[in-house]
Amino acid sequence: MGVCVLGIETSCDETGVAIYHSEKGLLADALYSQVALHQVHGGVVPELASRDHVKQLIPLVSQTLSKASLDRSQLSAIAYTAGPGLIGALLTGACFAKSLALALQIPAVAVHHLEAHLLAAKLSTPALDFPFTALLVSGGHTQIIMAHQLGHYELLGETLDDAVGEAFDKTAKLMGIAYPGGPKLAALADACSIKDAATCPPFPRPMTTRAGFDLSFSGLKTHALMAWQKSNQSEDIKRIIAYHFQQAVVETLVIKCRRAIGKMQSKRLVVAGGVGANRLLRQGLTEMMEEEGGHAYFPSIHFCTDNGAMVAYTGCLHFLKGQEDNTHQLLVKARWPLNAN
Ligand code: KG4
Ligand code: ZN
Repeated sequence: MGVCVLGIETSCDETGVAIYHSEKGLLADALYSQVALHQVHGGVVPELASRDHVKQLIPLVSQTLSKASLDRSQLSAIAYTAGPGLIGALLTGACFAKSLALALQIPAVAVHHLEAHLLAAKLSTPALDFPFTALLVSGGHTQIIMAHQLGHYELLGETLDDAVGEAFDKTAKLMGIAYPGGPKLAALADACSIKDAATCPPFPRPMTTRAGFDLSFSGLKTHALMAWQKSNQSEDIKRIIAYHFQQAVVETLVIKCRRAIGKMQSKRLVVAGGVGANRLLRQGLTEMMEEEGGHAYFPSIHFCTDNGAMVAYTGCLHFLKGQEDNTHQLLVKARWPLNAN
């Protein structure tokens, strides 16, 4: 039999919808990215994001149901992202999900966006089980977490300033690379030759000599700015700065993750969030975990950034444990620490 959960993600600038079946797995998913909408403004405009989610939700849900060959009467529950995120964007998804649940007389399930990111790797590796150590690297968060069991997370360390994705985006922007700059900066870094890279000294590895698991990335962004301002600002220089920035970020994260899995005696490292799509980070963490006799798990590239599948899946796990949100209130949270669950 099993249960069939519709997931709705609207925390930022992507409208994600998916259907997850507890026994058959992911049945269908659809994603609408607002990148083009926000590009002209150089970043996400919250009001525009909310209005666009309102426009996209109904067509995406219809599309997902038809891809899964399901009628909405066959849904068991509706999961939605309740936070953290942009408050207006969250409200559109929550309002839609709870109204639909009420109309269909099925439960709604509130999902924590960061927990959904953490569990995204389980979509492609269902055998991956708790406990595990996790590196969450998104546009808004950078945290090292011990995941003990569903809903029980311990924060080991986090960034004291910029999130990694944010630092990638800001570093790209200061060199004139259009929003969203993170993936473009990574592509430039990967295109830099070793010979060109050797013309510039390496960037620092922030906070690696300090004990603990906290991180800081705003200094690296400033380092990149100084290097850029002193340079002739050519395309070659862009690649060289991107290369050293990426090397410094990845090596710093590898050092801190090695320390965390050592302390927690963990053989499993799960990577989550948009920066989890970064090629060098995937390579660095995979090699480090092999050296430590463990294994690094990543979501498929498609499910690193915001998506509905991770929300449908996380909602399904909580629904199976009896967690339902049957109030008639909209309880969304712009800020919501993962370990406050
Ligand atoms: O998890 P996500 O979709 O959104 C948040 O919940 O924040 O992550 C988006 C972030 C952006 O900052 C984007 O620049 C970054 O992930 N990102 C990357 C790459 N792909 C996405 N950063 C570095 N390398 C990439 N390949
Ligand atoms: Zn996210």
